[in-house]
Amino acid sequence: MLLRRLTLDDVVTGARLTAAAFGGQPREARMRRYLELEPEGWFGVEDAGTLVALGGAVRFGELAWLGLMVVEPGHQRAGLGRTLARAAVAWAHDQGCTTIRLIATPAGTPLYRQLGFVPDGESQELAGVPRPLPPGAARSSVHPWGARDTEEVARFDAPSFGADRSRLLAAYAREFSGSAWVARDAAGTVCGFLVVQDESLGPWAATDETVAAQLLDIGLAGIERSLRAGVLDEMGERLLLARGLTRTRALPRMRLGPDVRRASSPRLIAHASYAVG
Ligand SMILES: CC(C)(COP(=O)(O)OP(=O)(O)OC[C@H]1O[C@@H](n2cnc3c(N)ncnc32)[C@H](O)[C@@H]1OP(=O)(O)O)[C@@H](O)C(=O)NCCC(=O)NCCS
Repeated sequence: MLLRRLTLDDVVTGARLTAAAFGGQPREARMRRYLELEPEGWFGVEDAGTLVALGGAVRFGELAWLGLMVVEPGHQRAGLGRTLARAAVAWAHDQGCTTIRLIATPAGTPLYRQLGFVPDGESQELAGVPRPLPPGAARSSVHPWGARDTEEVARFDAPSFGADRSRLLAAYAREFSGSAWVARDAAGTVCGFLVVQDESLGPWAATDETVAAQLLDIGLAGIERSLRAGVLDEMGERLLLARGLTRTRALPRMRLGPDVRRASSPRLIAHASYAVG
């Protein structure tokens, strides 16, 4: 077995491995996005030249996000998951990260617990074909998220996320341009944002319920496919339930290291991804 860094040459195999573990079709664009976001943070294990496991971390200042841990079924329970998680944690610590966060599946929870991660809340997953409501009277204006918005959006987001994730936000806004939205208040200040991805919804944040709902009804207009969302906040859950999504499962959030202070405003409503935050 060989532990090594993942590179962009692993996109095709990595996406296939991930699809085998989590279901669905291989999503190479997503694998590429994660590797480009943190070229040094992803690791893989090879068995006789074949990639059989992967996982890693993305760094946001002193905070790192650990994710996408996958071990090919025939190689599970042989310590590969632990080897990968330890490599990613060691890398994040070497980068000066003091806190590492993640969202665990039931399969991953015992492993993370064994490595010292502690419970840190929950993420509620909802899914379904959305039925947006007619937009109500609005105090804010919603417009497509352009490259020039990203710096201000990242400043708006940072207090609630607990770190500056501008690189991640820029990547999502770029990749999903056309379905990424920013809300601004009457003074022209950012008061919310939403990205609708191919199969999921998020990141999503807003100062209040009116702005959150407005983003949602504009962002979901014309969408006839099923979407998932990892929701952090009861308000978001309520808004999505009212638009036809249903609860699928609750996943534990876990943390290694001290809690990073997170502000309660704006409301961070949905993750970008379980894998990267
Ligand atoms: C979760 C996953 C990455 C674990 O990888 P793995 O290589 O099987 O895990 P390891 O062999 O390194 O196990 C490390 C420890 O975790 C715990 N553990 C792992 N799998 C477990 C299971 N099915 N039940 C209970 N404990 C388990 C054990 O404590 C284990 O140590 P032990 O075997 O000495 O008792 C792997 O099962 C997987 O790919 N699952 C599907 C995808 C997924 O859910 N990924 C997690 C995303 S958060």
